[in-house]
Amino acid sequence: MAQVPALWGPFTSLHDVMEHGPLVIERAEGVRVYDGEGREYIDAHGGLWLVNVGYGRQSIVDAMFRQAETLTWFPSFGGFANPPALKLAEKLRSLFEEDGMATVFFSGSGSEANETALKLVRQYWRIRKPSKFKLIGRRQAYHGVTLGALSVAGIPGNREAFEPLLTQVRHIPAPDHMHCPFHADGAPCTAACADELERTILFEGPDTVAAFIMEPVQGAGGVIIPPPDYMARVRAICDRYEVLLISDEVICGFGRLGAWSGARFYGVKPDLMTFAKGLTSGYFPLGATMVRAEMAEAFLEQAMAGPEFRHGNTYSGHPVGAAAALANIEILEKEHVLEHVQRLDDPFRAALRSVRERHHDLVVDADSVGLLGRVELAGTSGGPTGASRAAGAAAAMRADGVIARPAGAVITLSPPLIIGEADLFHVVDVMDRALGALAR
Ligand SMILES: Cc1ncc(COP(=O)(O)O)c(C=O)c1O
Repeated sequence: MAQVPALWGPFTSLHDVMEHGPLVIERAEGVRVYDGEGREYIDAHGGLWLVNVGYGRQSIVDAMFRQAETLTWFPSFGGFANPPALKLAEKLRSLFEEDGMATVFFSGSGSEANETALKLVRQYWRIRKPSKFKLIGRRQAYHGVTLGALSVAGIPGNREAFEPLLTQVRHIPAPDHMHCPFHADGAPCTAACADELERTILFEGPDTVAAFIMEPVQGAGGVIIPPPDYMARVRAICDRYEVLLISDEVICGFGRLGAWSGARFYGVKPDLMTFAKGLTSGYFPLGATMVRAEMAEAFLEQAMAGPEFRHGNTYSGHPVGAAAALANIEILEKEHVLEHVQRLDDPFRAALRSVRERHHDLVVDADSVGLLGRVELAGTSGGPTGASRAAGAAAAMRADGVIARPAGAVITLSPPLIIGEADLFHVVDVMDRALGALAR
């Protein structure tokens, strides 16, 4: 057998890497990345849904450098803190006060941010109402890879090898109008999938259900865009049965939909919010879990000495990460990046829909919200599946200088939020060409 590679990449086929080697990206600038042979690509996926302010931003690098020179790291355990972590906490409180958030717990990734949220929920209900411990997630959801986050996630291929996962978790269908089990083809959407949450809570017994976790728009599951009133209906159901609502903002937060959070975009105030990715635009690994004041207050009521929440990561509140996040947020604000996303919202959707019109035999759905887009491909009976076609189209796009990401039968797009209109339309043109070649 050939020697295994020294680097075992995440969600990577060792076989493929052993056969072809990895595609090595050496440098990046703006919305473009360059491989080891000098080939240029437009990164229409923002790395992995996250380089919101684009690559090579000197102000972020400088802020990180200055912070690393002053204090590279010191723990935040046991009552210590550092200036950038304190400043970032205040900044996040002011940004997300409107969503009801009061305090933030830092970690190192989206998985850890969600793991933290699930543990906060567990302990909160142990204090308030110990019979509430079950969690509800959704099919096709992605919340991370740690066992708790994976247990509430719903992409079967990611779960299978690690069963049994947490057992007290239930899953409801995704609000996926393309594969809706609730109404006949062509009938208008009634958002009946939201009611499935209520049915599940009632079946399980409201006194046993602790929380429901959702991405405002499901990303890795194939950019599943819910009906506009879906999240508000979910909120109302959670309120009715005292179920906490966790909004996983790891992709949707920090401008992806043209708002600071996906929940705000849909007009909903969650009980907990989790962030990572766009929080630093990838300049440093950082996760954040935010909660309402009432939640932290419940922890204060416990009769105990020492930490009220016995949880934390070595790098919680990393000063260099906090400095990166602050500089990233400053760019989002100063350059009015959210307004830019709002301006591109309609043109991007129109461009994707025109792709559908031109390739109606191949494309069954094309849609977007903010700068999060989807183009779903049909499979053929006995021939290639939608998923193999999407993988083929993404490979052809890459050969033509654009990086997009297949998720099942969907080509997903999530470019840096600073992308200009010309580059965005170029991405769509390249997809057009790839689909044209696929149809032939
Ligand atoms: C919605 C969502 N939540 C959580 C995560 C996990 O984040 P991380 O990979 O930083 O652990 C991801 C990663 O893609 C995500 O898309």
